[in-house]
Amino acid sequence: MASLKFSHSNGNPFAVTRHVTPRSTRPTRIGFKIFASDNHSEPDLSVCVNGLQMPNPFVIGSGPPGTNYTVMKRAFDEGWGAVIAKTVSLDAAKVINVTPRYARLRAGANGSAKGQIIGWENIELISDRPLETMLKEFKQLKKEYPDRILIASIMEEYNKAGWEELIDRVEQTGIDAIEVNFSCPHGMPERKMGAAVGQDCALLVEVCGWINAKATVPVWAKMTPNITDITMPARVALSSGCEGVAAINTIMSVMGISLDTLRPEPCVEGYSTPGGYSCKAVHPIALAKVMSIAKMMKSEFNDNDYSLSGIGGVETGGDAAEFILLGANTVQVCTGVMMHGYGLVKKLCDELKDFMKKHNFKSIEDFRGVSLQYFTTHTDLVRRQQEAIRERKAIKKGLQSDKEWTGDGFVKETESMVSN
Ligand SMILES: Cc1cc2nc3c(=O)[nH]c(=O)nc-3n(C[C@H](O)[C@H](O)[C@H](O)COP(=O)(O)O)c2cc1C
Repeated sequence: MASLKFSHSNGNPFAVTRHVTPRSTRPTRIGFKIFASDNHSEPDLSVCVNGLQMPNPFVIGSGPPGTNYTVMKRAFDEGWGAVIAKTVSLDAAKVINVTPRYARLRAGANGSAKGQIIGWENIELISDRPLETMLKEFKQLKKEYPDRILIASIMEEYNKAGWEELIDRVEQTGIDAIEVNFSCPHGMPERKMGAAVGQDCALLVEVCGWINAKATVPVWAKMTPNITDITMPARVALSSGCEGVAAINTIMSVMGISLDTLRPEPCVEGYSTPGGYSCKAVHPIALAKVMSIAKMMKSEFNDNDYSLSGIGGVETGGDAAEFILLGANTVQVCTGVMMHGYGLVKKLCDELKDFMKKHNFKSIEDFRGVSLQYFTTHTDLVRRQQEAIRERKAIKKGLQSDKEWTGDGFVKETESMVSN
């Protein structure tokens, strides 16, 4: 299936020249008709991404909200645009979770119990449910919801045959796309899984090559923010045949140390380990990462052929609009669902529509990527400011001639010529 498409090195030592033939029609700028609103005054939230048609851009991010049949069914029933299941691997027996595995950060004085939850750390691993069980559930969901988008999230050890087997088995269930978890920050680095691959561009080229030679559905590569320049692995993933990039996974964190017990949180039998940070507090960091990737994609890749999924701290339609304004095609939500439930999607859709009405945007494509142009370098900001000051100074203060005095504006006109 692999074919020579085009060369794309861009000076990146890890860029590859061999490309996989596109598996889908890629994102189009036209909303999918069956989801388009009949009411012409209502903004149309539908999106078509890598050939996948969704009623809205809101996607359940991989994690507890996509952990089994019951909760994924609930997500479809509540109206989520797509669901990404909890990450699966070939051998769930190797995945052993601990409890408690979450710790929260609250705003306000000393993180008072009444303060709003703004940060969330987890030390949860990928799915610990048997692969066979998860596959049966994917199949059942696709049977019940043939028109809805179900995406399998996968992660495997550094082993070509293992990746090929996993891809084959998830694809047999009828899932619509694959998200590859190159970004889990904790867990099994010694098995070269998750972020261990996403942080190493040489490994990433190789593993993406295996994956894209095998997969027949669109593949999104989920990026870790725990790296100096996130555009490097994103570029490698897209150059290696992935149709899309998703960012960000959680940020490596230590939630805190109890000043009573002197033990770190989340505390398991008196001990802890660094985990992944999510929720509102990571939103600005996620925006910066998505902005960098979007700029790279805009300058180096054809916007219509590749997709971007924004993730991190989304709880309002406005949070989602920000990702879309930077170029995201879809927006994923994980911790937000854990805090507010599956009904959150209705609020997200209403708030996104309100934003669109305010600006008279009829579709997501009307404003996707619009704010990207307002990012520049600091040097350019200095140049722009100096120019603006010069222009302001050039405008003469006060009246240019005595014939401009008016009766109504006399006091203001006088003041415009006073110096103190
Ligand atoms: C408890 C928990 C478990 C998660 N498990 C996974 C996972 O299995 N696979 C994955 O790709 N991301 C996982 N994530 C990361 C989320 O999908 C998401 O990238 C991250 O939490 C940031 O988005 P949020 O602020 O909306 O949660 C998990 C996040 C949380 C909070």
